Amino acid sequence: MRLSIIGTGYVGLTTGACFAEVGHDVTCVDSDEAKVGLLKSGGMPIYEPGLEELVHKNVAAGRLRFTTSIAEGVERALVIFIAVPTPPLPDGSVDLSFIEKVAREIAGCMTSYKVVVDKSTVPVRTGEKVAETIRRYCRARVDFDVVSNPEFLREGYAVEDLMHPDRIVIGVQSPRPVPVMREIYEPFGAPIIVTDLNSAELIKHASNSFLALKISYINAISVLCEATGANVQEVALGMGMDHRIGQEFLQAGIGFGGSCFPKDLSAFIKIAEQLGYDFRLLKEVQRINAEQMDRFVKKIADTLWVLKEKTLGVLGLAFKQNTDDVRMSPAIELCQRLLREGARLRVHDPKAMSKARAVLPEGPNVTYVDDMNAVPEGCDALVVATEWDVFKKLDLERARKVMTHPILFDGRNLFDPREMERLGWIYKSIGR
Ligand code: UDX
Repeated sequence: MRLSIIGTGYVGLTTGACFAEVGHDVTCVDSDEAKVGLLKSGGMPIYEPGLEELVHKNVAAGRLRFTTSIAEGVERALVIFIAVPTPPLPDGSVDLSFIEKVAREIAGCMTSYKVVVDKSTVPVRTGEKVAETIRRYCRARVDFDVVSNPEFLREGYAVEDLMHPDRIVIGVQSPRPVPVMREIYEPFGAPIIVTDLNSAELIKHASNSFLALKISYINAISVLCEATGANVQEVALGMGMDHRIGQEFLQAGIGFGGSCFPKDLSAFIKIAEQLGYDFRLLKEVQRINAEQMDRFVKKIADTLWVLKEKTLGVLGLAFKQNTDDVRMSPAIELCQRLLREGARLRVHDPKAMSKARAVLPEGPNVTYVDDMNAVPEGCDALVVATEWDVFKKLDLERARKVMTHPILFDGRNLFDPREMERLGWIYKSIGR
């Protein structure tokens, strides 16, 4: 099937590559000339495991191409996916101006029947607005359908999540576009739920908020564990073995971040408010998340007494492992908090150092260190801020020798407390 994707961010680019991989003919459109130029010359604007290979393979096979022209994208395809950013506004609501602009532009180029599919995360009722806008701005008298098809991929696992989804959600205003949507997703072999437009849009915000709630819940439990000497990982294991609860998203830590959860939570709270419902449960999820960071900073400050002129080695800058994304990263927030307390930082991340430099500039108090094993040199303490697996391979023996004190604050529970104690470390983690 001929498909176009407007927007080549995390969602758009990965979706385009995966659609091409299963045999569809895909045109990726982006207004950013530099990005399209980079993609055309074989470069990658983002780091995502497996994506580069997939893009190169499908470009070479002639199933995937890039352009800055929406007209070309609309002309070539029957189905046009919108995957543009929906950034937060200062009041927590969502900026839908990119969606509105793209809807107008698509309408202006349509000369035959099209299915316009929204993939971006949007407030409930956006699809209705998109349909209204297309109707208003469509010059030719052509038919179209608007579909909501939210994306659930996780950064760092985007290709895997797209190729093996748990479910495909398709929200429609009429049955007409359903066969086309089924045909697109048939190769992925996942269950497909067909519902109305508003339900599909709600499924996305409700799912992300629920996952954030799960993380805040286990973080709240971690406070009780610390107060009683219980172990939050054991508690999570015991809870998660109940299949109704499940093991995933029960990792206690310094809180969730990234470009989705914080934004989607604020947006969902705002959407509820506009619909006349005070979603206090989700406000509490936000509060617990913020407090988790406060508590961790306090733990560091209490142990080191004064942070001024102390050197801390920070492992991790990305908002989670397997990504170079530092948007709303708890690790970056932690660094900024420690800097405000007067600490000097030696920081490292396996993938996110170049993106981090833009938000955490190198300077007299911030040194970027290429080799994780060189981070501990001259440090008063180490801090784990991101759950990169590779940090578990840190040379602890060497670290002990080059640090002023062997102290490690583990914000992601990567190390075993007993083993750390045996090795002579002062070791503080979350809820253990
Ligand atoms: C999330 C959703 O998982 C995905 O379905 C949606 O499409 C986009 O938002 P993403 O933001 O890529 O994906 O990352 P995710 O893996 O969900 O992690 C989000 C944050 O929660 C990270 O900061 C991570 O460190 C944190 N987290 C996750 C925890 O603190 N504990 C956990 O148990 C899981």
